[in-house]
Amino acid sequence: MKKRFLRLLFLSGTLITLLTACEYDYIVPTPPPPVIENDTISFLSDIQPIFDAKCISCHSNSQKPLLTTGNSYNALMTGNYVVAESPETSSLYTKCKPGGSMAPYTSSDRLLLIFRWITAGAKND
Ligand code: HEC
Repeated sequence: MKKRFLRLLFLSGTLITLLTACEYDYIVPTPPPPVIENDTISFLSDIQPIFDAKCISCHSNSQKPLLTTGNSYNALMTGNYVVAESPETSSLYTKCKPGGSMAPYTSSDRLLLIFRWITAGAKND
């Protein structure tokens, strides 16, 4: 009797753990980072270097968006890859966050910079 109760307790514990783990993954993939007031993030010194290091090996010719220096800002804006102040609806961010097809090329540090830049208004500075 006692054994059966313990087994049941163990099984339901495992089940609950598994279920909550799944739910966490699917419903909240990455909690949005806190917004930084008056963020001094800059496109030229913080974002373009990410493109140079991780993206232009593919995004420098026909692969849209074009992410090379001098072209990237216009390409992102005219192609609607970035919605100022709204990273969650910007495909530049959603493609790069965990689960997106560009996630393998985007470390969490770099993803955070992209998030901050869009949140701060996606300025060309
Ligand atoms: C190994 C090549 C490769 C690298 C490196 C790469 N990309 Fe891509 N990217 C692609 C391909 C191929 C597509 C089109 C397929 C897709 O959307 O997944 C694409 C699509 C995209 C799109 C969506 C384009 C559209 O029109 O929907 C964005 C935004 C993007 N990449 C951004 C980036 C950023 C930012 C980086 C660097 C952090 C990066 N990519 C690195 C190959 C690459």
